[in-house]
Amino acid sequence: MPHQPHRLIPASFTPGPSLTLRTRVEITPDFGRSATIAGYAVSSDGPVPPAIGLDRAALTDAGFTGAVGQTLVLTRASAPTLVAIGVGGQGQLTTATLRDASAAFARAGRHGRHLATDLMSAVSGLDPVAASAAVVEGALLARYRYLELKTKTTEVPLEALDLVGSTAHPDGVTRGLALARATALARDLAAAPPSHLTATVFGDFAETLAPQFGLEVSVFDKAELIDLGCGGLLGVNAGSIEEPRMIEVRYRPSGQPTGHLALVGKGIMYDSGGIALKPGDVTHLAMKMDMSGAGAIFAAMTALAELGCTNAVTGYLMCTDNMPSGSATAMGDVLTIRGGTTVEVKNTDAEGRLVMADGLVLATEEGVDAIVDLATLTGAALVSLGPMMAALFGNEQGIVDQVRAASDLTDETVWQLPLDRRYRNQLDSDVADMSNLGGPFAGATTAALFLADFVGDTPWAHIDMCGPMQSDSDDSWRTKGPTGFGARLLVELALGFRPPAS
Ligand code: BES
Ligand code: MN
Ligand code: ZN
Repeated sequence: MPHQPHRLIPASFTPGPSLTLRTRVEITPDFGRSATIAGYAVSSDGPVPPAIGLDRAALTDAGFTGAVGQTLVLTRASAPTLVAIGVGGQGQLTTATLRDASAAFARAGRHGRHLATDLMSAVSGLDPVAASAAVVEGALLARYRYLELKTKTTEVPLEALDLVGSTAHPDGVTRGLALARATALARDLAAAPPSHLTATVFGDFAETLAPQFGLEVSVFDKAELIDLGCGGLLGVNAGSIEEPRMIEVRYRPSGQPTGHLALVGKGIMYDSGGIALKPGDVTHLAMKMDMSGAGAIFAAMTALAELGCTNAVTGYLMCTDNMPSGSATAMGDVLTIRGGTTVEVKNTDAEGRLVMADGLVLATEEGVDAIVDLATLTGAALVSLGPMMAALFGNEQGIVDQVRAASDLTDETVWQLPLDRRYRNQLDSDVADMSNLGGPFAGATTAALFLADFVGDTPWAHIDMCGPMQSDSDDSWRTKGPTGFGARLLVELALGFRPPAS
């Protein structure tokens, strides 16, 4: 039985917009009559579209230069509201800035249920599928809100989006919808309060959702994790009244797989720090999102069947909370990871690497072509790179480069840091094979070096998404709160994945 604090805090999870995402996206020849907000691309240098009804001088007087991210709302009596959408210099849009422009438009028109835009007409030289997807992603993700726990709201849902003109591509619409829905699901999971989305509830939810998205899900409970020897996950769970779960998610393409990719996700449902309790400040508030890696992996996998992924993908979601109590793992305790490696726990707040180690060993045993892991692992990654990008490490440049290429497509920025083995001795332990704590410097690197010990020779890339897991503000496709970082990146990675040459 899952722990139920009392009936007013149900141990249950209601996804928000992700599964009810009902935005109808259509390609239309003209603006038509039904949209209440009409957005026109306006460049910073070329002619102003006549429909705007203003010349360049008037736009400039209103402070609108046409830069990407700028919008000018022109309200009119008894006619659709017009929005001038800045697209920068003529022909200069990239897929990323197009996504930004679309997000800015959707926010400028946040009171409208039905938006139409000719943004695709401003595109030149971009892949029409990727560009159409970017317009859809930008608009839908900008309008995302987690409202499940609000009893009152004035938010207006985006019910319909028309892509006006002949340059939009229907495959791009499908792709954009799938990617936006996956990202929304990753955000929902991260936004859910810790007592609502426990490891047990996540497991049940994954099982329920699996058939709908062509996935197979096996959930391993505490007894099964003991049989598997997942001492990292069990050790982190030791202080909790909630059971841990390892959620194995499998996607198999209909034909012979072109490759097999494993995804391992950190699923700390709440990271209190354990016995090494975190200070009582706002860091605690972010720690319900310490399962963002696992959430993004599950969310990404829900898009694979729909987008016809030809690779087999197996996800390992390592789920538990990290709590202090009389039964909690103490500092100095030694855990045995699956496969037999012993780890001295020098800090119970360095719990992510402990649960990830079990997952990486499981993935390695599968004989996959490559492993990519996603984890909110270290504050050090946030300190060094800030909230706009994740730290990327790897033991094989081929898979690292595939992650970078996917990241370029989705504008979820990653930055490679060195996996410098000279720091490995910081993880030495006097009593066990290794310790879970490095020294005071290069904390993201020593965490990555810890993980590297568990992947053997399998090509592996590690994404430490501590920084970009959340956003302080609405900013392009990001909304304030959990960003769903990694969901789109992993979909693109899985779609384009080729086994690295060995
Ligand atoms: N979940 C945290 C990392 C984190 C911090 C994520 C802030 C998101 C926002 C992780 O488990 C942690 O506590 N890391 C420690 C490691 C240290 C004890 C070696 C950290 O970064 O301080
Ligand atoms: Mn921690
Ligand atoms: Zn953590």
